[in-house]
Amino acid sequence: MALHMRKGLETEERDDVYASLPLKRPAEKYRFPEREQEADPVYQLVRDELMIDGNARLNLATFCSTFEERQVHRLMDESISKNMIDKDEYPQTAEIEMRCVHMLADLWHAPESRTAIGCSTTGSSEAAMLGGLAMKWRWRARRCKKDSGPEKPNIVTGPVQICWHKFARYWDVEIREIPMAPGRYVSSPEEVLKRCDENTIGVVQTLGTTFTLDFEPVEQVAAALDRLQKEKGWDIPLHVDGASGGFLAPFLHKELLWDFRIPRVKSINASGHKFGLAPLGAGWILWRELADLPEDLIFRVNYLGGDMPTFALNFSRPGGQIIAQYYHFLRLGREGYTKVQQACADTAGFLAEGLRKMKLFDIISDGSKGVPGVCWKLRKDADVPFDLYDLAERLRYRGWLVPAYSLPPACESEVIQRVLVRHGVTPDLMEILLKDMASAVEELRKAPCSAGKTAAKASCFHH
Ligand SMILES: Cc1ncc(COP(=O)(O)O)c(C=O)c1O
Repeated sequence: MALHMRKGLETEERDDVYASLPLKRPAEKYRFPEREQEADPVYQLVRDELMIDGNARLNLATFCSTFEERQVHRLMDESISKNMIDKDEYPQTAEIEMRCVHMLADLWHAPESRTAIGCSTTGSSEAAMLGGLAMKWRWRARRCKKDSGPEKPNIVTGPVQICWHKFARYWDVEIREIPMAPGRYVSSPEEVLKRCDENTIGVVQTLGTTFTLDFEPVEQVAAALDRLQKEKGWDIPLHVDGASGGFLAPFLHKELLWDFRIPRVKSINASGHKFGLAPLGAGWILWRELADLPEDLIFRVNYLGGDMPTFALNFSRPGGQIIAQYYHFLRLGREGYTKVQQACADTAGFLAEGLRKMKLFDIISDGSKGVPGVCWKLRKDADVPFDLYDLAERLRYRGWLVPAYSLPPACESEVIQRVLVRHGVTPDLMEILLKDMASAVEELRKAPCSAGKTAAKASCFHH
């Protein structure tokens, strides 16, 4: 019997999709549906509802990939049922994950790329948890040796992404976050040293801060920690949160010392799904060498006669993102990544130039030194009857998502607006954005709107 004629399925095959039962009434929202329905009309219904979402390509708030080549779509589709954790069943997927780890170890100058240790994660947040946990475990081992009583561990950071606050709360570590100061949006060696003591499990430096896209001074902070060790004997490890910068610095800022070339850098995380160009759900964490990942945090799985260390928070996890990451490494190599990231940086420069010409904004970051993107605030002498929240709201009318947000404590009175220039954000699109901004400014001058202010302030800033 044809599926559509079975008891319980009420749709006739000849019905137009919008005349079919699933689409003739609102879908269930609060009760688990009783009846079975045809696949095609339900697909149409779900798809139609998703039209209300913003257009991801116009979401200039996200650091994450919003463009994928068709080969990536194919690989993702073909690997939809591969579970990353099933190393025995999918040994090649496991092998590909390890190849990516070795390639990243090479890119980030680990002493031994062949024997480097690391793993994929769902993103930088999970990777940060793992990096933080390893630091906490190593600190505990150091403290136990000294046989001193229980003391609360702390972690010293610059202005970090929320994942580090989560790490601190979930794993009971005090976070000593260096507040921004007017005109200083990142940490400094002096501010780091002020907060370190013998219970500091590690210092986190961000390569591409979420707020202003700046790279923190890893090399200078490492040198300060070297001096501290000489004076006090505290050997405090450095972790680099390279969520974005881990895939930018090796291509755009080759001269910058931030990675395993600095002996004090013990671990690095990066988001494959940001400037690593993989689709959503790919992150990486690597340790400098085996000794930097405490043995009792590793679970071992034997496959293909080898020894596969696993260290992750999740068990099941999709394998497609990692396969797609490997595709990108092979497809682009250093040459291709450099071209892609340079194109993004150039486009950010183009946008920054356009914004400067509007004579309304102070450019805080133009993408030339940190993450490709532009951050700006309203000039103090900009005589306008609106703020950046209003402007953000106006731009939404045209589909652009350009968030306005206030900086963290100590600088919370500063409101900033930010555009991330990722793969697929072109000068042509930025020219249209600039025109739309000019029109929005004109409209707001004529009819200042305060509704935007409330709406934009109410919607929280995620990145
Ligand atoms: C510096 C930094 N660290 C960590 C994260 C969290 O990364 P993910 O979204 O990959 O979990 C982000 C996200 O934007 C970030 O910018």
